[in-house]
Amino acid sequence: MSLQTIGILTSGGDAPGMNACIATIAALAEKHGLDVRGIFRGFRGLVEGDTIPIGTELSGLARRGGSFLGTSRKGSVEQALEEAGVEEVLNRAKIDGLIVLGGGGSLDATFHMSSHGARVIGIPCTIDNDVYGTDYALGFDSAVNKVLRAADEIMDTAESLSERVFMIETLGGNAGHMAIAAAYSAGADAVFIHEVTPDVDGAAERIKAKMDSGGTHGLVVLGENLGTVDIAQRLEECTGKRIRLTVLGHTLRGGNPTYVDRCLAREFGEAAFNLLVSGESGRMVTWSLGKTGHVALSDITGKTRNFDLAKYRAVNGD
Ligand code: F6P
Repeated sequence: MSLQTIGILTSGGDAPGMNACIATIAALAEKHGLDVRGIFRGFRGLVEGDTIPIGTELSGLARRGGSFLGTSRKGSVEQALEEAGVEEVLNRAKIDGLIVLGGGGSLDATFHMSSHGARVIGIPCTIDNDVYGTDYALGFDSAVNKVLRAADEIMDTAESLSERVFMIETLGGNAGHMAIAAAYSAGADAVFIHEVTPDVDGAAERIKAKMDSGGTHGLVVLGENLGTVDIAQRLEECTGKRIRLTVLGHTLRGGNPTYVDRCLAREFGEAAFNLLVSGESGRMVTWSLGKTGHVALSDITGKTRNFDLAKYRAVNGD
């Protein structure tokens, strides 16, 4: 079947760079005489056939965070697609091929579609950076830079008004990539992540020793849903210092993409477009050793990327 209309869908948590990536694909399609339809609200909109034609008029949105198409959590999308019939869903949405931007769950659903005969390409997009098979997912750099900026600003206070231990809670789901990257680059004294039981007493001992020998402050970065309040209480008990907590939450998912994410958005968009028009399907574009590549969705489905143990150890002094 020839490819005339490409659908683009953004799924899961939105990530800075999604709009830039959509704009790249729309511009390339126009150059090649192909049509593009944007699908509203992720797979939910796909099943309902909720789409619009999009073109290069969107280029002004490229600098904005979020996804102008909206996203939805995957939910029971595989079941909904099966009930409606993958081919029927694509016909109803008036598309011949589909590019999906999303994290692990969304890419699993993309694999599911490809195994039912759909022409699909995935692009890893999640601030959590936990997609297997790629060094970077779109949005991660923007989120980490926000944590870093917050840490820098908090450090201004920490160095002026001393004798406190600052804790910064990031997002990242069950993956420690964001917390580790931010802690490592901010020079934190400790990082706590889901993948490893937090050694709060050990961190407290290090921070106390540093502050007792002239250090003005302590800095701890941790992932979400780790029991932040309990950790703060324990740190206070063990260090005898004041603990000050900043929860960054959803501030990390929004905002304009960084330079790195804007470049990645263009590189990923172009790579996905080229794969689709050259007749490939069931693949995800990747970033490794400074270059785009691609991998079979069947090889990455159900897997998650391991955290960076060397950086984790460097922060925690292991
Ligand atoms: O997957 C991206 C992410 O922002 C995670 O870091 C976070 O755990 C989750 O989404 C929050 O999801 P929601 O916005 O649906 O609460």
